Amino acid sequence: AITSLLAHEILDSRGHPTLEVECSLSCGIVARASVPSGASKGTREAMELRDGETGRYSGLGVEKAIDSVNGELAILLFEADVRDQAGIDNRMIELDGTPDKSRLGANAMLGVSMAVCRAAAMSVKLPLYQYIGGISANRLPVPCMNIINGGVHARWQGADFQEFMIAPYGADTFRDAVRWGSEIYQALKSILLEKHYHCAVGDEGGFAPSVSSNQEPLDLILAAIEKVGLSPGKDVGICMDPASSEFFKDEKYHLRTEKKVLSSAEMVSYYAQLVKNYPICLLEDGLSESDWGGWAALNNELGDAIEIVGDDIFVTNVEYIARGIEENLANSALIKLNQIGTLTETVDAVHLCQSCGWGAFVSHRSGETIDSFIADMTVALGTGHLKAGAPCRGERVEKYNQLMRIEDELGDMAEFAGRDAFVRPIE
Ligand code: PGA
Ligand code: ZN
Repeated sequence: AITSLLAHEILDSRGHPTLEVECSLSCGIVARASVPSGASKGTREAMELRDGETGRYSGLGVEKAIDSVNGELAILLFEADVRDQAGIDNRMIELDGTPDKSRLGANAMLGVSMAVCRAAAMSVKLPLYQYIGGISANRLPVPCMNIINGGVHARWQGADFQEFMIAPYGADTFRDAVRWGSEIYQALKSILLEKHYHCAVGDEGGFAPSVSSNQEPLDLILAAIEKVGLSPGKDVGICMDPASSEFFKDEKYHLRTEKKVLSSAEMVSYYAQLVKNYPICLLEDGLSESDWGGWAALNNELGDAIEIVGDDIFVTNVEYIARGIEENLANSALIKLNQIGTLTETVDAVHLCQSCGWGAFVSHRSGETIDSFIADMTVALGTGHLKAGAPCRGERVEKYNQLMRIEDELGDMAEFAGRDAFVRPIE
């Protein structure tokens, strides 16, 4: 049984405050979990409770959320059965009483939800991925590594598109996929240096060169893949998250680097051209969260060929994902624990996707901690792919390192998703 819940204020990878929650059990077990935070957030995400203008951390402090954990939530869950994850999550949702978790804070609730889960796994002496997914959980994801950062993650110093990822799906094992990713990352660095670009990194550890178009990163990445002797498209594909809600203003898409202002339909043609010319296997948030009409057209144009993922538009919420399925707006949903605020609701979102033939693409946030919960969760749910940033920076590589540990532990039982990782087949 749970004997105490205790939250502390810690710093995330951007240096902003976030919470770490400790869950203690009567048997003496203590488990910790910490909560990430986004920068290009969907407007319909569950609410992260911050203190506001109190003079601490420019208002970004999380003392109110900490009070929620140490006060109301600790009282609510005192002596609760730690293995009753759904019951615990539902009781928190009920106690909060708001549709967006704004009273107690989605960050407070998620910290508790994750810490409870980890404590429960420890109490039955199972690795986290087996506790969540059962003893048959064995599917290692393709690591989609964000090696060029743009948009808000690079303070608009580089590409308009936020994320350019490599997907080393041709590797035989997860460990080899990580090695390929790392080798390509280092090759990209030397190519950038040759071209006299700076190679400082953005929020997710990818380089943030001052490119003059959104195709240029794709050319740089192709060159890096070839430089290490791999074949673009055959061994390694490209995934993109333009995070286009960030450059959608007055019903138009503003591509600053290319001095272009495009309509929704023109944006769809723009992507169709890119997909024709580059080995792109996944496009996330190609259109804005408020451009629902455009999404149907985008999915109609490209959804048979590649994975079309909704992030800001669905915010890991079964209600919006169900609408997306109904209206054929995409064929995959991004999955972020803190967009919805509890593990149970996150697992429900993944199950909804999987039961309808949709992809479920597990994701970190741009503001991360060293918590590798999503690594275990991805194996548990067998989603086949995840994104956790570049193969660089501690808070990013910890997710990949944990997945390598899991692969080692599974030994012959491990299965790398490889070419089957995506909702549309890789030829
Ligand atoms: P965020 O971005 O974590 O900064 O919101 C990630 C994404 O858009 O996928
Ligand atoms: Zn996104």
